[in-house]
Amino acid sequence: MSTTVIILAAGKGTRMRSLLPKVLQPLAGRPLLAHVIETAKQLQAQDIITIFGHGGTFVKETFATEKMTWVEQTEQLGTGHAVQMVLPVLATSGTSLILYGDVPLVSAATLQRLLDASIPTGIGMITLNVADPTGYGRIVRHHDKIQAIVEHKDASLEQQRIQEINTGIYCVSNQKLHEWLPHLSNKNAQGEYYLTDIVAMAVADGLEVASIQPEMAFEVEGVNDRVQLAALERAYQSQQALHFMREGVTFADPNRFDLRGSLKVGRDVRIDTNVIIEGDCELGDGVEIGTGCILKNTKIAAHTKVQPYSIFDQAIVGENNLIGPFARLRPGSILADQVHIGNFVEVKNSMLAQGVKANHFTYLGDAIVGKDTNIGAGTITCNYDGVHKHKTEIGEAAFIGSNSALVAPIKVGHGATVAAGSVITRDVADHALAIGRAIQVEKPNYQRPQKSK
Ligand code: UD1
Ligand code: CA
Repeated sequence: MSTTVIILAAGKGTRMRSLLPKVLQPLAGRPLLAHVIETAKQLQAQDIITIFGHGGTFVKETFATEKMTWVEQTEQLGTGHAVQMVLPVLATSGTSLILYGDVPLVSAATLQRLLDASIPTGIGMITLNVADPTGYGRIVRHHDKIQAIVEHKDASLEQQRIQEINTGIYCVSNQKLHEWLPHLSNKNAQGEYYLTDIVAMAVADGLEVASIQPEMAFEVEGVNDRVQLAALERAYQSQQALHFMREGVTFADPNRFDLRGSLKVGRDVRIDTNVIIEGDCELGDGVEIGTGCILKNTKIAAHTKVQPYSIFDQAIVGENNLIGPFARLRPGSILADQVHIGNFVEVKNSMLAQGVKANHFTYLGDAIVGKDTNIGAGTITCNYDGVHKHKTEIGEAAFIGSNSALVAPIKVGHGATVAAGSVITRDVADHALAIGRAIQVEKPNYQRPQKSK
């Protein structure tokens, strides 16, 4: 049975007070709508139809690479009107799941349960019992069977006491949508075409309206303002922390962990407070990440220890490294095993072989550094001439003295030594000592100028 996912995303989102369309507001680093699309894909939806309105072209451009259908609703005349816009492109057989673009965290598992419950009856929905149902559509039941949804503004005082609410998520046969939607009217308290009216139509047709409840309440919570956005962000992050604790990760505080992307972990990973992980990252067995670190699209192999406040972006790090505190690995940093990178060391587009040490205040850019080479404090690869980037190649077991400038393109040989404070502009042969600094001059018994009395 083929499933279409219809996503309502035409609302203005006034309460966000933002220039950005609401469905593009980020949750865990991705637009709200991206979460819904991702879930639709997990369900193997044959088509994803998104109804856009406000900020529409911008929304469409954001998802330009997705295979999906866009339908415009120029005037927001209600949820029923929104789905009416879809009818011209909606298959006449199969089933549709109707979701909201601003309800980002509904799980594929919950939607699958909804599909399973609804397909036999032709219509089903997700409801929820809440302490304060103010504002929501109420589920009117008779002998347990759903009869209708009554919007808050249309509800009698008695109906307003109903605590079972409409989440706005439905599963309906496409054939029925084609049948019912053209008959919606806007004769109600808000003068809108209510999608909710299809429930009474189904009952009138003798259908039983199936219903399920979500596993977690946050799955059906929407984002109308930044307070709700922050609450859902927390809900999402605590779910992720739970997941990773079950995978064997120890968090100093699971409430202070943020994952904005995907993470693969080995066993016995330890993550201290306030760590942010973005993009696709991998942490091998026994990796330790200190407080305040930010890792983006980075892979770290087993037993490497990253000390506090280190920032990695597109780095590949080997086993048993010791990195930080305050280290910065920029794109293209490839570190083999047993590498030590200390404080205020920046590495960019460089390969550091096994056992390389750069422990203090250093910039290694566009460099290849051989096995067991020691890079002294304050070493700089001068890789940029203002126009081009040039390579620095340093051999194995070399020793670069402190405060040296290696002016690229340049090669320093195996076992070579560069004296501290050198500016190296010519290649250094294997096992040679290169000294490129001013010769110290000494004047004995020097008398400093005196102030005249
Ligand atoms: C709707 C339901 C209500 C339910 C509530 C759950 C109706 C009539 N009411 O209420 O029973 O309890 O959701 O949150 O359906 N949208 C459009 N075009 C429109 C109108 C809305 O795309 O013309 C989109 C919005 O962007 C939003 C979603 O539909 O994503 C819901 O709209 P909203 O106005 O929040 O729904 P309510 O009327 O509050
Ligand atoms: Ca709403």
